[in-house]
Amino acid sequence: MDQSKSNENAKDQQLEPFRVDNDGTKMTTNQGLKVSNDEDSLKAGVRGPTLMEDFHFREKMTHFDHERIPERVVHARGFAAFGEFELYESMQEYTKAKFLQNPHKKTPVFVRFSTVVGSLGSMDTARDVRGFATKFYTEEGNYDLVGNNIPVFFIQDAMKFPDLIHAVKPEPHNDMPQAASAHDTFWDFVANNQEIAHMVMWVMSDRAIPRSFRMMEGFGVHTFRLINDKGKSRFVKFHWKPVLGVHSLVWDEAQIIGGKDIDFHRRDLWEAIEIGDYPEFELGVQILEAEDEFKFDFDILDATKLWPEELVPVRKIGKMTLNRNVDNVFAETEQVAFHPGNVVPGIDFTNDPLLQGRLFSYLDTQLLRLGGPNFAELPINRPVCPIHNNQRNGFHRQTINLGKVSYHKNSLANNTPATSTAKEGGYVHYEEKVEGRVTRARSKSFDDHFSQARLFWNSMSSPEKRHIINAFSFELGKVKSQSVRQQVVNMFVHVDKEMATMIADNVAVQRPTGEQSKVTASSPALSQAHTISVPQT
Ligand code: HEM
Repeated sequence: MDQSKSNENAKDQQLEPFRVDNDGTKMTTNQGLKVSNDEDSLKAGVRGPTLMEDFHFREKMTHFDHERIPERVVHARGFAAFGEFELYESMQEYTKAKFLQNPHKKTPVFVRFSTVVGSLGSMDTARDVRGFATKFYTEEGNYDLVGNNIPVFFIQDAMKFPDLIHAVKPEPHNDMPQAASAHDTFWDFVANNQEIAHMVMWVMSDRAIPRSFRMMEGFGVHTFRLINDKGKSRFVKFHWKPVLGVHSLVWDEAQIIGGKDIDFHRRDLWEAIEIGDYPEFELGVQILEAEDEFKFDFDILDATKLWPEELVPVRKIGKMTLNRNVDNVFAETEQVAFHPGNVVPGIDFTNDPLLQGRLFSYLDTQLLRLGGPNFAELPINRPVCPIHNNQRNGFHRQTINLGKVSYHKNSLANNTPATSTAKEGGYVHYEEKVEGRVTRARSKSFDDHFSQARLFWNSMSSPEKRHIINAFSFELGKVKSQSVRQQVVNMFVHVDKEMATMIADNVAVQRPTGEQSKVTASSPALSQAHTISVPQT
């Protein structure tokens, strides 16, 4: 089947008029003029200089000169596909989001998988977190679930994100290493920002070298809210569970494959879809009643902590099937703009200070990356529902707004866009009660950096533990600063003394003298949770 011609859902239909197939038609300039020669520039004589009046040469070269746009500041390397999300059961009790009401309802989606650190041309199998971003084209507007394949994050507050990325990206004086955490600045950041401990355990595990995008979990990471039509709010964490299960490479495989085929993961995704072996992921939710907000020894606003699945089970509510490759990687995969702030009625934010900062950052960066304020008009970013507002002009504006009135409110026109009440589908933010002093403080439990890191370690099988020790030894072994190596080993004694000792021996620093810190969590909640779902190797 020529999938690029399929017209199966609202998004496909919307994209159709933008698809241009040359179809053997004659070459023209961008002004529509037929071109008589596309090989020789216009010259004064056979051997003379090229003439300024060669508009075809100038247009062709100028367009080429401007082909590149900035790569994403993070998650630059990615690959994407179209698909559909089908709901299993009504979530009406929990949310009024329309795409979560009727069982079997199908919603078009676009999903982009990515690595975080590497640049656009880096290798797929690098040890790294993978992005897992989904755009649901719902009848109420776009809903973006911009997640990762690891359920926790490096830091707790968005204020530190630029520092984290400066530390993990190639070092500025020599631009090395290109796509790895095996360097001084990353590990120096680790030792001096110890809330990172839990995330680093995941990144040193096999989770950071997935076998395939089709075999990864996805996590919304933050705590979000679901709001039902009665205005009741509950907390929620989102999960994607791959139907094929979670599978990883081992390190030597990742290295060899990366050397032979840097496109390993994108090729795997592309080919699976081309032959009709469609990747599937079930959407899971962990739901917490509002009154249980303080039931854990950790703060649910802390993105370095997960909700153990034994305590808050994951309920699978639907399935996403990726069934169509993109027609053009630049137009679709590169120009897509995901944003955690793209929500629909029934889904809302919490005060997680990492999420709050993300709500600013994505739109801000896309204004630069995609050349101004009109990138929502790009075909891949357009919602499938109508757009009406008083926003006007700006670079690359395509919409031709009619009429003379472009402001709210007015008495001159009776067809300017009016706002909607909540009942009519207008987005109304959850009326959370907020009070307190203006401060840069955080919850005390944010300072417990090691309890969940240790739970993760304890949940690992022996081969998985060996892989983690080997990964630490490889990555840390590349650090030039003896002091940084020592600090890291001294830090990870708080996760497990034996582990830290073995790493110390492997990276030639002194064995840590400190002791494992006591697990500060005292509630049955955390101390009962010994197993966290782990990769099958
Ligand atoms: C991409 C910022 C945390 C997942 C990006 C981009 C920025 C950014 C600026 C590039 C967007 C673009 O150019 O279109 C931040 C900040 C964070 C943060 C400031 C914390 C304060 C997270 C977390 C997750 C995440 C916690 C996962 C839950 C992603 C993904 C992409 C991305 C998947 C790539 C989206 C795509 O494929 O286009 N982030 N990020 N980020 N981020 Fe974050």
